[in-house]
Amino acid sequence: MADLLLAPPAAPTFYFIGVTTGQSSSRRMFPAWMEALGRPEVVWQGIDLAIHDDPANYRAVVEHIRKEPLALGALVTTHKIDLLAACRDHFDELGPYARITDEVSSIAKEDGRLVGRATDPVAGGLSLDAILGPDYFARTGGEVLLLGAGGSAVALSLHLIQKPRPGDRPRRIVVVNRSAGRLERLAQMVAGFPTDIAFEFIQNADPARNDALLAQMPPASLVVNATGMGKDTPGSPLTNAGVFPERAVAWELNYRGELDFLRQAQAQQTARSLTVADGWEYFIHGWSQVISHVLHTEIDPPLLDRLSELAVAVR
Ligand SMILES: NC(=O)c1ccc[n+]([C@@H]2O[C@H](COP(=O)([O-])OP(=O)(O)OC[C@H]3O[C@@H](n4cnc5c(N)ncnc54)[C@H](OP(=O)(O)O)[C@@H]3O)[C@@H](O)[C@H]2O)c1
Repeated sequence: MADLLLAPPAAPTFYFIGVTTGQSSSRRMFPAWMEALGRPEVVWQGIDLAIHDDPANYRAVVEHIRKEPLALGALVTTHKIDLLAACRDHFDELGPYARITDEVSSIAKEDGRLVGRATDPVAGGLSLDAILGPDYFARTGGEVLLLGAGGSAVALSLHLIQKPRPGDRPRRIVVVNRSAGRLERLAQMVAGFPTDIAFEFIQNADPARNDALLAQMPPASLVVNATGMGKDTPGSPLTNAGVFPERAVAWELNYRGELDFLRQAQAQQTARSLTVADGWEYFIHGWSQVISHVLHTEIDPPLLDRLSELAVAVR
C-alpha cells in the first residue's frame, strides 16, 4: 500500500476503490459532474487494490475514510465482497441490500456514522431492465447463464428473484464460478428467498467447458460476463469457438479494457441475431447512486440525463 494514497486529503475527497482506477472514465467525468451538482470543490481519488487483496489493506482504506474529515466517502468496485468481509466492524450501519448480499459498493458518512450500501441490485437491475424490456423471459423462453458469481452476479440474481411479474423471471439461472466459495455464498443467498427460478451452480474455470454450457442454453438466453475477464484479468470466460444461442443477449458488465467477451459476441452478432450490450449504463447508474449517497444530494431523472450526457462527452 503506497503511503501517498492514504495521505490526509487536502480537499473534500471522493474515493474510487478498484483495480485499475486511473483508466476509468470516472476520472474525467467526475469534475464535470461536480460542477453540474454545484460541488466543484470535491476531488476524485483512485485507490488501486489487488483482486482478493490482503484484508489489512481493505481495513487501512476504510479506516482512512472513517477518520479523515475531508474523506467524504467512496465507490467500491470489484472489491465489494472482500472489503465488507474484512471491514464489517468499521461500519456503523449497513443498508438492507448490503446485509442481504454481504457486499458494499457505496461508503458514505451520515452524521459522523459510516454507512455501507450495496447499489448493484438497483444499478445493475435498472441496466438489465433497459436491455431486456418488460416480460422478456415470457416473450422469449430464454434462460440465464451467469459467468462469475461475485458481487454483480449476486446482485443480478437478487434483482431477478425479486421481479414481481412472472414474465420477468427466467425459468433457470446457471451460475459458473472459478472458486467454490463464491458459489456457496450465492446459493446461501438464494436459499433465503422463496423463488420459482431453478438455480444451477457449476464450479469451473475452463473456457471450453463454458462453451459447452453456452451451447446448452435455449435461444434468446441472457449470457453475462460477470467474471471481470477482459478488464480486471486478461481473456474471456469463453473460447473463440463458443457459439451463442440464436437471438441471445450477450451482456459484458464492463465498458473498458480489452473486452474480449464483447468482441466474441460482436463477431456473431449478425449471424446469430444477438443483442450485445456493454456496461456503460450500469456505470452511469452505479456512479450516480453512490454520488447521491456520499454528497447527500438527490439525482432526479432529468439530472441523471444531464449527468449521462456529460459522461458521454468524456467517455
Ligand atoms: N459497468 C459497471 O459499472 C460495473 C458494475 C459492476 C461490476 N462491473 C464489472 O463487472 C466485473 C465483475 O464485478 P464483481 O463486482 O461481480 O466482481 P467480483 O466480485 O470480483 O466477481 C468476479 C467473479 O468472477 C469469478 N471469476 C473470475 N475469473 C473467472 C473464470 N475464469 N471463470 C469463472 N469465474 C471466474 C471470480 O471467482 P473467484 O472467486 O475464483 O475469484 C469472482 O467470483 C468487474 O470487472 C467489475 O468491474 C462493472
